[in-house]
Amino acid sequence: MTETEATKRIAKLMAEIEDHRYKYYVLDEPTISDSAYDSLNQELEDLEQKFPTLTSPDSPTTRVGAKPLAKFETIAHDTPMLSLRDVFSRDEVAAWVKRVSDAAGQTKIDYYGEIKMDGLAASIVYQDGKLAQGVTRGDGTIGENVTAGIRTIKMVPLVLRPGGPASVYRGRFEVRGEVLLYKKDFEALNQAREQAGLPLFANPRNTAAGSIRQLDSKLTAERRLSFHVYGVATVVDGITTHKAEHELAHQLGFKVEPHSRLLASVDEVMAFAAEWENKRKSLPYGTDGLVITVNDRAIFNRLGVVGKAPRGSVAYKFAAEQATTKVRDIQVSIGRTGAATPFAVLEPVLVAGSTIQMATLHNESEVHRKDIRIGDTVIIQKAGDVIPEVVESLPKLRTGREKVFHMPTRCPICGTKLEKGDKEAVWRCPNFNCYALERGRIIHFASKDAIDIEGLGEQTVDALLDTKLISDAADLYHLSVDDVAGMPRFAAKSASNLVEAIQSRKHPTLDRFIYALGIRHVGAQTARDVAEHFGNLAGFRAAKPEEMQQVPGIGQVVARSIADWLADQHQHLVLEKLLREGVKPTAFHKVRGKLSGQNFVITGTLEAFSRDEAAAKIEALGGTFQTSVTKETDYLVLGADAGEAKSTKAKKLGTKVIDEAELLKLLK
Ligand code: IVH
Repeated sequence: MTETEATKRIAKLMAEIEDHRYKYYVLDEPTISDSAYDSLNQELEDLEQKFPTLTSPDSPTTRVGAKPLAKFETIAHDTPMLSLRDVFSRDEVAAWVKRVSDAAGQTKIDYYGEIKMDGLAASIVYQDGKLAQGVTRGDGTIGENVTAGIRTIKMVPLVLRPGGPASVYRGRFEVRGEVLLYKKDFEALNQAREQAGLPLFANPRNTAAGSIRQLDSKLTAERRLSFHVYGVATVVDGITTHKAEHELAHQLGFKVEPHSRLLASVDEVMAFAAEWENKRKSLPYGTDGLVITVNDRAIFNRLGVVGKAPRGSVAYKFAAEQATTKVRDIQVSIGRTGAATPFAVLEPVLVAGSTIQMATLHNESEVHRKDIRIGDTVIIQKAGDVIPEVVESLPKLRTGREKVFHMPTRCPICGTKLEKGDKEAVWRCPNFNCYALERGRIIHFASKDAIDIEGLGEQTVDALLDTKLISDAADLYHLSVDDVAGMPRFAAKSASNLVEAIQSRKHPTLDRFIYALGIRHVGAQTARDVAEHFGNLAGFRAAKPEEMQQVPGIGQVVARSIADWLADQHQHLVLEKLLREGVKPTAFHKVRGKLSGQNFVITGTLEAFSRDEAAAKIEALGGTFQTSVTKETDYLVLGADAGEAKSTKAKKLGTKVIDEAELLKLLK
């Protein structure tokens, strides 16, 4: 990048960041996620580092937080409320630990690890043991007087509880902590707003911020805010460690984040981080990382402050699930049902611990609705195991050289003209014999919920197709160890493992087998319904469309799709070939058990198992797993972070709503 280009980019980034900073910090109405915002800041910081002369004194990288709103009285903090430097990896933690040890002149240093709570910082001052003043962090030097609001928070004592050192009850005593809205309180608040026809709040953090900054503290009181102390800002005799500060605060009647732990090494810090990165969803409030602090106050104080952050603390950030990057190109992939899915080829970017180079754009109308162009800077998102997706583009960062995407008219693989139904969003390659469709069908056939052939993923399927060892799923069954061992990245042992895995899956249950055929609209649940109805493969193959529609849960569209598949010459040949290879699905017997006749729907995420595992457990006891709430549904299981739609429907239908604990009881 030339200096002129950098000047332009920096100006645009600064304007964009300022825009989002204002929405987030001042208005409490963010329109992009924190991690996307961080990612823009990171790019600016990197550019400023590369071109130091271009760093403006107004740059958001030179300031922490925002100016307080004008409507509150402002109060200067006795000592500044600092911010924390972020670290993202073991290497960065180790480098920090080394710097701390070097500066302190000793290697044996204890650290105190805490959950970094996602709320807003506030200071509470007690005068002679009585709550006198609550102030928001503001810009770190000056905050807003929110005493009336703070007083409404039930987690905050109005009078310090007795039992602490005498000095805390005389004169000024200050604690600092985080104003929070617990997830359940946030959900209840939104539920009430929905019923009252009011607009819903975006997230707990901004709702907490908006709630504490209400001029009318009666409104604050209705919001069920929480407050967790994370530090004591007054020097108290005998309190020589950060841990002791927490204990003192607890003793004086404050809620203190309960999962804190003493850590003696980088290894222990990382183990603590790994533990909470996994369990973060189970916390009653949001978190995006940990705070690690030198436990000994004397050492901590000696280390001092660099910029606006104490040297003795860092924020260890959990892997972000969103980031920004640029779209290099938009291409189209053809899936097993022929669906042509546009996807973005991205400048590689690290998201949630892995490098992302591609993200799905779902379909043509999504690309146009979101107005995503080749060359755009976009926000991408990765949540759990799902395919990364493009959330939105940031049009203000455009240069004018971006290109609008046009869907190709022909299949990029076989050249057949793509087709689209009137009411459909998706273009499809109609050629059942297209290489891309066959490839997709083989991958699907081997996948976990289908035949479940261990070790047969996309890459191996590609290798088998490239070397012409297979041309359809049936060919898998006559692969020899020698065949496979001849392929790149395979040795005798791995080849024999793969062949064994394939041969061991010759007798799948009928529902898995039907699902594995990859018939459009026939998901795992439909396959189970069909298998249960027909009981064996011959019955399924012989069924007329009218008969298919007799199966509960199957409508015209699915019946038509199955009929088309069964009538297709190519599919017929592959199916015959599978049977000739000795693949024989076992007859389907519906399990009778304590949950027989009971229908379950799960929404949100469960802690103890994935949705598929829960479905398997329910079915093993004779219950039925459904994907949407209907009047047949007996139980809606509400997991963490569940959306509103299913519970609203359940309420309307009078369906019993249970939580994970109650489900576990039923499964016992
Ligand atoms: S210690 C030097 N401990 O994170 C600042 N902060 O990025 C001392 N926060 O403004 C902060 N949980 O709002 C500390 N357990 C915790 C925290 C925590 C959340 C927030 C706090 C602070 C920001 C710093």
